[in-house]
Amino acid sequence: TGTIAIRGRLLSFDADPAVAGEAEAVRFIEDGIVVVRDGVIVEVGEGPAIVRRLDPGTPLVDHRPHLVLPGFIDPHLHLPQTQVIASYGAELMEWLAKYTFPEELRYGDSAVAGEASRFLLDTLAANGTTTAAVYCTTHPVSAEAFFAEAERRGLRMIAGKVMMDRNAPEGLLDTAELGYEQSKELIAAWHGRGRLEVAITPRFAPTSSEAQLEATAALAAEHPDLPIQTHLSENAAEIAYVAEAFPWSKDYTDVYERYGLVRPRALFGHCIHLSERERQVLAEKGASAVFCPTSNLFLGSGLYDLAASRALGLKTGIATDIGGGTSYSMLTTAAEGYKVLALQGQKWPAFEAFHMLTAGNAEAMGINGKVGRLAPGLEADFVVLDSRATAPLRRRMERVETRAEELFALMILGDERTTVATYAAGRRIYDRYQGGPRQLA
Ligand code: GUN
Ligand code: FE
Repeated sequence: TGTIAIRGRLLSFDADPAVAGEAEAVRFIEDGIVVVRDGVIVEVGEGPAIVRRLDPGTPLVDHRPHLVLPGFIDPHLHLPQTQVIASYGAELMEWLAKYTFPEELRYGDSAVAGEASRFLLDTLAANGTTTAAVYCTTHPVSAEAFFAEAERRGLRMIAGKVMMDRNAPEGLLDTAELGYEQSKELIAAWHGRGRLEVAITPRFAPTSSEAQLEATAALAAEHPDLPIQTHLSENAAEIAYVAEAFPWSKDYTDVYERYGLVRPRALFGHCIHLSERERQVLAEKGASAVFCPTSNLFLGSGLYDLAASRALGLKTGIATDIGGGTSYSMLTTAAEGYKVLALQGQKWPAFEAFHMLTAGNAEAMGINGKVGRLAPGLEADFVVLDSRATAPLRRRMERVETRAEELFALMILGDERTTVATYAAGRRIYDRYQGGPRQLA
């Protein structure tokens, strides 16, 4: 792919503004350039200075006055739920039984999984999302189809074959042995291939027997560096069932802890109704909570308490949770997250939100050395955003005076329409205006 240069208003985060302060954390260059060689960022700096040094003939894409950010990262969503999204009228357990499980049965067909993967990855790209942690179904072919599509697009992706051996329709169940074996085969075939990683994916405690969780413990111990993804403490009926099914457990988190699943790179979706003890354990073991605001509102699950997580040093990511969640857009997801926190009297400035959508989610997933910032050595995944893409945004921007206000309005009013372009490993994978600006240095 050689060298290319991308010019725009660069925004990236060296640290969490909530921890380090805005001055330390926020990297903004009003006229900046990112130089990319073979899919990796080699230089980030002031546009005029870099332009003078570039080899003549280097392709230069001038996105000014648009913003250039690291590609958004979505640390929790479900491949087989693109046709479950917006299903009416149920809380979690009924929603799974009535809508989700019947739909997931179709994903034993690799053509179904392939078509869904193309739709999902096209839609993520249109929303500026370049990396995700994805639940496929119990069927290994669902994960194979997803990985094949992700590889074709050169994306950094984490995905797993779901393990579940009870409390779902027969055709969706594996067994303790089968879940283990199929995960092993998936790891051997796909983990570390290009930018792909396999996640150990027990769906959640209610759908795994103790035998399956023991097999999952063995799998996790044999692969200590792999990501893990599951659901935790989302809904009252779910939590009550876990207490009944695992009578020896101190609480829901204790079930996962007992099987060695609470560790760095473990992503726990939801984490709404946690006790102090549970937050403490998750934090101490280096695991991450994933805030899924549109899903938590839509399924009536509850309000994620970011302040409580921060107080104990529990890392938090933010995700769409398609299709319990209702938007593919990380901007819309952040906007709903803002409202969930507002209901609890918590503040969430735009800089903190944009940090979470990029570097924060990368850190939650343990891929912060690879993506999430505009910095030399990191992979060249970008989203280009137009903060005046729609009439409501243009009208609001007439009164905006600071960068923080601009970013906040973009987060609250933005969506798929604000994505101008998306790049993966330096290649344009989405282009709103077909062709866009391009010139030679
Ligand atoms: N808990 C277990 N499975 C699921 C799922 O598919 N979606 C959500 N939101 N919660 C779950
Ligand atoms: Fe989920």
